[in-house]
Amino acid sequence: MSRGRFITLEGGEGAGKSTQAARLATILEERGLPVVLTREPGGSEGAEAIRSLLMQGDVARWSSHSEALLFAAARADHVEKRIRPAVEAGSWVICDRYIDSTRAYQGAQGIDDAAILALHGFGSKGLLPDRTFLLTVSRETSLQRTLRRGADNDRFEMRGTSFHADVAAIFDRIAEHEADRVRRIAADGDPDSVTRAIVEGLNDLLP
Ligand code: TMP
Repeated sequence: MSRGRFITLEGGEGAGKSTQAARLATILEERGLPVVLTREPGGSEGAEAIRSLLMQGDVARWSSHSEALLFAAARADHVEKRIRPAVEAGSWVICDRYIDSTRAYQGAQGIDDAAILALHGFGSKGLLPDRTFLLTVSRETSLQRTLRRGADNDRFEMRGTSFHADVAAIFDRIAEHEADRVRRIAADGDPDSVTRAIVEGLNDLLP
């Protein structure tokens, strides 16, 4: 059995990651590939339990350092129990958010990138995706889509515009510095064209 692939979708709130992850899963399944669709924080029983701790409650419930540790702990469980076994068994794992979200969101709260990567090395043996799609949208689109979704705001959505601008800037920097892994896709427009761009961006990995 040959190794599968590990694909992540990243971006700010309302970028369309979940929609595109589900569409990509369908397309790959139609091509006969075994697919695992998952998300972070969460994706395994232990990580989902940590997700509730992270998402609910007051904005100031956790310090930035505690939060970085909780995300790393959730990811370690998810990688060990679900992602790594599935990829090793030949599946294509599609994950809605992963390490770049920690680098962007916890980075925007002052946690050093090298410290985040060190925690990732310890917790998840530094597992990186084979390809990451960074979906970018304007702040206006992001706000419109989050409002339309009508969900209760989680602890991160409640933060202000300058926080989300910092998050976007860090995502852009990662994409610029790690261009082999990370493909940036403008996602303000038609979801079909975003899906096409994602599939095109996988051409070199598809069997
Ligand atoms: P989502 O399920 O809507 O994507 O929400 C997850 C929230 O958690 C989102 O606001 C981003 C935030 N987050 C982090 O701050 N760090 C992380 O490592 C991850 C995976 C998510």
